[in-house]
Amino acid sequence: MPDPDTPIELRQLDRAAAEALVPQLCALLQDAVASGGSLGFWRPLGDDRALAYWRTTIAEVDAGERLLLVALHAGEALGSVQLGLSPKQNAPHRAEVQKLMVFRAARRQGLGQLLMRAVERLASDAGRTLLILDTNTGSDAERLYSALGYQRVGVIPRYSVEADGEERATTLFYKSLGAERD
Ligand SMILES: CC(C)(COP(=O)(O)OP(=O)(O)OC[C@H]1O[C@@H](n2cnc3c(N)ncnc32)[C@H](O)[C@@H]1OP(=O)(O)O)[C@@H](O)C(=O)NCCC(=O)NCCS
Repeated sequence: MPDPDTPIELRQLDRAAAEALVPQLCALLQDAVASGGSLGFWRPLGDDRALAYWRTTIAEVDAGERLLLVALHAGEALGSVQLGLSPKQNAPHRAEVQKLMVFRAARRQGLGQLLMRAVERLASDAGRTLLILDTNTGSDAERLYSALGYQRVGVIPRYSVEADGEERATTLFYKSLGAERD
């Protein structure tokens, strides 16, 4: 549980800063997957797979294909979110919000919302005014996105399958940044 007297720092990571935080980023991803988060992995997420994921992600950050933001509390990464920048010629204004996650011990204190607000500012600064995302139908994340004004497009049944064979639906959302576009 973060000490409320120590401020949360939101930081955009470049390659070097992300590499310095790799052990913490792996632990964060493993905790989020263990909690049943909609992150593309089966639980439990092993160390090697988590490390390989962050290595690939950091290379994409370095290539300018994605932005990576973390919420730090006394030097500890408590949450993170990413923005995948569409490389398509006809989509210079579009980006996908991905891998929003907060350590279980730090949830329901506004960190998820803080990260989403910050990633929206980053997107806007980068000229990406149409955000898209998807998440497990019925999840905490789905409630968060709705609360933040994301428009629900619809549900895709059987979108993902768990290790035990359970199929899960996903809900697609979008948000146009800037009132004139809503
Ligand atoms: C989704 C997640 C990032 C939310 O993080 P968080 O720090 O708990 O979110 P916040 O405290 O900012 O919550 C903001 C709002 O989201 C909604 N919300 C979040 N968790 C909720 C829950 N367990 N039940 C109901 N509403 C919830 C509420 O509207 C909440 O506002 P409130 O606390 O004022 O009621 C976190 O639950 C998580 O890491 N989940 C696992 C990873 C995952 O599935 N990510 C989505 C990838 S697409």
